Amino acid sequence: MATENSPRKILVTSALPYANGSIHLGHLVEYIQTDIWVRFQKMQGHTVHYVCADDTHGTPIMLRAEKEGVTPETLIANVHQEHSADFADFLVQFDHYYSTNAPENKELSQGIYKKLKANGKIATKTIEQFFDPVKNMFLPDRFIKGECPKCHAKDQYGDSCEVCGATYNPTELINAYSAVSGAAPVRKETEHYFFKLSECEQFLKDWTRSGTLQGEAANKMGEWFENGLNDWDISRDAPYFGFEIPDAPGKYFYVWLDAPIGYMASFKKLCADQGLDFDEYWKKDSSTELYHFIGKDILYFHALFWPATLEYSEHRKPTQIFAHGFLTVNGEKMSKSRGTFITARSYLDHIKNPEYLRYYYAAKLNSTMEDIDLNLEDFVARVNSDLVGKYINIASRTAGFINKRFSGKLNPSVNHAVVAEIKGSAQVLVDSYTEREYGKALREIMRLADIANGFVAEKAPWVIAKQEGQDVLLQQVCSDALEMFRLLTLYLKPVLPKLATEIEQFLNIAPLTWAAVDATLEANHTINAYEHLITRVDVKQIEAMTEANKENLQATTAPQSHSEQRHAAHQQNEANTAATEAEYISIDDFTKVDLRIAKIVDAEHVEGAEKLLKLTLDIGEDKPRQVFAGIKSAYDPMALVGRLTVMVANLAPRKMKFGMSEGMVLAASDERGGPFILSPDVGAQPGMRVK
Ligand code: MSP
Ligand code: ZN
Repeated sequence: MATENSPRKILVTSALPYANGSIHLGHLVEYIQTDIWVRFQKMQGHTVHYVCADDTHGTPIMLRAEKEGVTPETLIANVHQEHSADFADFLVQFDHYYSTNAPENKELSQGIYKKLKANGKIATKTIEQFFDPVKNMFLPDRFIKGECPKCHAKDQYGDSCEVCGATYNPTELINAYSAVSGAAPVRKETEHYFFKLSECEQFLKDWTRSGTLQGEAANKMGEWFENGLNDWDISRDAPYFGFEIPDAPGKYFYVWLDAPIGYMASFKKLCADQGLDFDEYWKKDSSTELYHFIGKDILYFHALFWPATLEYSEHRKPTQIFAHGFLTVNGEKMSKSRGTFITARSYLDHIKNPEYLRYYYAAKLNSTMEDIDLNLEDFVARVNSDLVGKYINIASRTAGFINKRFSGKLNPSVNHAVVAEIKGSAQVLVDSYTEREYGKALREIMRLADIANGFVAEKAPWVIAKQEGQDVLLQQVCSDALEMFRLLTLYLKPVLPKLATEIEQFLNIAPLTWAAVDATLEANHTINAYEHLITRVDVKQIEAMTEANKENLQATTAPQSHSEQRHAAHQQNEANTAATEAEYISIDDFTKVDLRIAKIVDAEHVEGAEKLLKLTLDIGEDKPRQVFAGIKSAYDPMALVGRLTVMVANLAPRKMKFGMSEGMVLAASDERGGPFILSPDVGAQPGMRVK
């Protein structure tokens, strides 16, 4: 770590979000945490570069693109745009936001691989893997399903059972089938490339002891060492969306090999754009600092694979890895049915102001890996009482007098005790921000705001204003209050950058840096008119947000896996936005929906599902469609067989807990009853288009 006087050069990263889902409030914990730290360090006058990128490679993205009928490149380009807009709107200010599917990343990944190989750290081994004989591809565990070997629940994933919680190898599944084609997978030999992590144990142990990790993370490492380190499988067979391994035709780097190298690639592009020296930051003996912010779920990759990769490819290692906990909402995992699976965009649509969330997260964040809870009631109370009631109040009760009675001119008193006290907390706050103890920082800032408010209440400028001959006192009291407000604004600026900029405008001062703690608003300095800076959050906005995010497709959907939820939240959220922006849809919008007459050729109960029936639908295609419909409460499956109904035929297939759902059946319902599935008039034939 550099000493106080030498200039610090700092490179900071947040984990690269997967390019197959929308940014949600869970992700934002990390990006907001990192952004606050980066803004704080920049305010300190250090040279800081903050880079990130979309994580674009791997089988799920390849298959999703295929399902959506687009190339992976198109899919990731669209998501890149969406993610970039989400981050910008939450004031997460990357210096560069790239993609792992970039030429710099390909070159770096291949170069690093060659170095690892030259250093004897790559081995090949023939392994046996499940292969989909229809789709002609090897199957990752999560694309193999079958009967749980323990409790015999049907349609469980290849690694664990969602019903009884057992974990196992995909080879242990009974009647395994490919989630991609439905075919029974066969076992097939293939040669894979491995990074010899087992040989890196001593290096990693030394590295762990060098103070790079939080206490809890170092303990986790201890457990991993105890269990022994396995070599890391870094290759996947074609077809795969990723980078080819040099001199290994048909073999690709596993997504987690090139993902962290994406940090380097994003920075490399920034260097090219801004004339920075890439090697200065990444060479083995670099004197610059490198910090990775990550969630606790990906510690293994960042604390084992990544430093070992860097070490044996002759690069510098991270200065520190900062892992945070997971977000819960109202004390529970984010949930679609409770409406707490909230995307970044949905928050913005309903609450509008991103700084409320930044403030709330900051108030909850500390330097540990503990989970953090977004309690929506507390969110409303906290934002309203702290930001509006305490902080902004200082200006709103004093600025008007300066503007109206003194044409905006200030006249502060010299060496005011309360001002001095507020300045006196600067170092404590520097320490708290540096240590990522944001909650502690904000508690201190609010304590100072209370003191400032106490000063205003005691002096009561609104009383002085009515007294004869007290103009100087009035001007002084209000000027002092505004100086306090300036300092609090500076302290809050890493968290509330947009509001701070607006206040700089109002106070008519240069952008606040930390050095401005020692400055002061001078006599005769003129401020601008005070305009209303912030409004209260209304509980109704929260209710509208959770209501809009609630599973309103209950009739036709089932519980989904985590990533499916993300995707669904995204799709549904888009629908919500569209509905509020315009009451009407165009005929083009409507014709995008492929509605077909479907014949129910089979209907059955789904073991373990409360609401669902599994329908087999004939819509005149070669293969019937399988759809899960939430109509169990209203229909006996046998009574449905043979009936005609209407289905959405071009809804992206969705993998549900119980199997693939390849469309949606239309049904009516509200508080008066239902669901009632729709039926066409006599004469309609399976496969006819409804328009
Ligand atoms: N693509 C990998 C990271 C590669 S880094 C070289 C990945 N992507 S992710 O989209 O699943 O997650 C991105 C970051 O968001 C991770 O650090 C993850 O821990 C964090 N979070 C995702 N969901 C979260 C919560 N619910 N709560 C807090 N952080 C969460 O992992
Ligand atoms: Zn089971």
